[in-house]
Amino acid sequence: MWDIHEKYDKTQKPASREEYLKLCDAEFRAGFRAFFYDEFLNKVCLGCVDLPALLDEADCLLGLWRERGISETDHDFAFAKSLTMAAKDKEAETPLKSVFMAPYVIEKKPVTPEAREAVMRVIHERRSVRAFHDKDIPDELLAKILAAGLNAAHSRNLQSIRFILANENHEPWVFRGIDIPPGHHHIAVLQDDRCYQASEEKDQMQRIIDAGAATECMLLALHAYGVDGAWLTYNDEEQFPRLREKFAIPDYMRIVDLIELGWGCQTPFPPQRPAVEERVVVRV
Ligand SMILES: Cc1cc2nc3c(=O)[nH]c(=O)nc-3n(C[C@H](O)[C@H](O)[C@H](O)COP(=O)(O)O)c2cc1C
Repeated sequence: MWDIHEKYDKTQKPASREEYLKLCDAEFRAGFRAFFYDEFLNKVCLGCVDLPALLDEADCLLGLWRERGISETDHDFAFAKSLTMAAKDKEAETPLKSVFMAPYVIEKKPVTPEAREAVMRVIHERRSVRAFHDKDIPDELLAKILAAGLNAAHSRNLQSIRFILANENHEPWVFRGIDIPPGHHHIAVLQDDRCYQASEEKDQMQRIIDAGAATECMLLALHAYGVDGAWLTYNDEEQFPRLREKFAIPDYMRIVDLIELGWGCQTPFPPQRPAVEERVVVRV
């Protein structure tokens, strides 16, 4: 019989408060997230047998966060605190109902047929554009594109994604590769490896997918705003080391991929896609 507790009993984590205090901030955050976004949520959701012990652990971690002087307005802390409060809610019929429902009762705006059509157009009509005008994208629009990347699905919500955002005119030729000429703007998608420190092997495999999900969301967002771009991986062996050196990127930060973007000056012929029925290998 499958037992959720078995999974967490095997998880290696600091045994005591003192051990937690010895961790650097990044390691502590990794453990904090692993607890709240995974163990805590899953155990409460499945009706944890020992809720008081789980809540003690949650309170201890929240206390350690404060003790370390990390900002209490941080998104991870805010989420953990509201989860813990909800799980303690005696009024709620079940902790599950409280944790999952009460704090998040938000009025969902229905997606109108027009909005739905627009979303599907963005997905289907986005194209990789590889030549750009020498014209800036406004900062507020760039911020919206990055925000779309941060809103992508992310394993355990570890939020490992970081960016280098550069304008070709400010850093000419630094982003050059061998594939296409540098775009007018560049977004390098980085990952802070320290976010995965408290993770199992499975998460190590998921990290590359996390970066891909963020990149795809940004590509869709930029198309929605009428901007163009292309997703690039390694262009040549020198490109990523060059960026690392130029921008003093520390070793724990991985450079995963690049988006070259700007106001496009080409309209590529759409690479064709196969029909769905050709690609469904199993349908039961
Ligand atoms: C992981 C990944 C790596 C890519 N690397 C490159 C690249 O190095 N150079 C390039 O010109 N296009 C690159 N592309 C863009 C693909 O060639 C493009 O998405 C594909 O041909 C389909 O075209 P479309 O994006 O216009 O639909 C990459 C796309 C992905 C998802």
